[in-house]
Amino acid sequence: MADLAFINGEFLPLTEAKISIEDRGFQFADGVYEVVVFHRDRPLLLREHLQRLENSCRSIRLNFECRKYNLETLIQDGVRRAGNPDTMVYIQVTRGVAPRNHVWQKDMEPTVVMTFKAKPVYDAGKRRQGLSIRTMLDFRWSRCDIKSIALLANILAKNQAIAEGYDDVLFTGPGEELREASASNFFLVQEGHLLTHPQDHTILPGITKLWITQLAREIDLPISECRMTRAHLATAAEAFISSSTIDVLPVVRVDQQTIGSGRPGPVADRLYQQMLQDRC
Ligand code: PDD
Repeated sequence: MADLAFINGEFLPLTEAKISIEDRGFQFADGVYEVVVFHRDRPLLLREHLQRLENSCRSIRLNFECRKYNLETLIQDGVRRAGNPDTMVYIQVTRGVAPRNHVWQKDMEPTVVMTFKAKPVYDAGKRRQGLSIRTMLDFRWSRCDIKSIALLANILAKNQAIAEGYDDVLFTGPGEELREASASNFFLVQEGHLLTHPQDHTILPGITKLWITQLAREIDLPISECRMTRAHLATAAEAFISSSTIDVLPVVRVDQQTIGSGRPGPVADRLYQQMLQDRC
């Protein structure tokens, strides 16, 4: 099926979708976004994604309510129209169109844009092999809990990592604390415990991370939020990253440090299998 777009109330083919140059999303990255996946018309944690979208809007003082906009119904309509077996929905809300000025106008009409595309299938070989990532001092802004469309730092970091032969980047904070990857959350498995970064302003509150927390409880896997540091890498049995588009992906090397056996481990696989099962 052709990719589908939605702009301010209208569905249209993606190739015909146009937006004003004076949209503040284009001029200032003044907006927020979400990525939601549907499997055979069934959304994965849609309410949680919409809640996070509203939280992001509130954090940037953008007046937008999903319920008032009827967003859930519009998304479901778009997924049906797109007609893919699995659909990746991208939702972007910007502050709207106005002559370029750092100061926003009062009562602006937000721009709501969505795209509906077939969900990309992640390279199966890579999934079997596991990823190699490099650490990088986090040079993003201090509100990474907001799902902002301003992703230049993430893009620069990931491209640098790829140019150096890695698959992704792992942002680190003071004391070499391990935060998150360029577009995913980060986990370690140590002595049968799942570890992940505490939810604060330095990482995105991942919806898949939330799901993993629930799954871990269901399968009796102890999980704790803790400030992991480089020292944890030498003793970790496994590492993996998570997001709506990749579910979980094993990480087998961080910088020069091999993680565990250097092969994808059973915990990431168990969680992945559970995810596949739960969405059926
Ligand atoms: N990225 N951290 C960052 C910086 C992210 O951009 C994402 C998601 C996540 C994981 O969030 P979730 O589990 O809710 O997808 C963590 C999306 C997929 C993207 O930008 O395409």
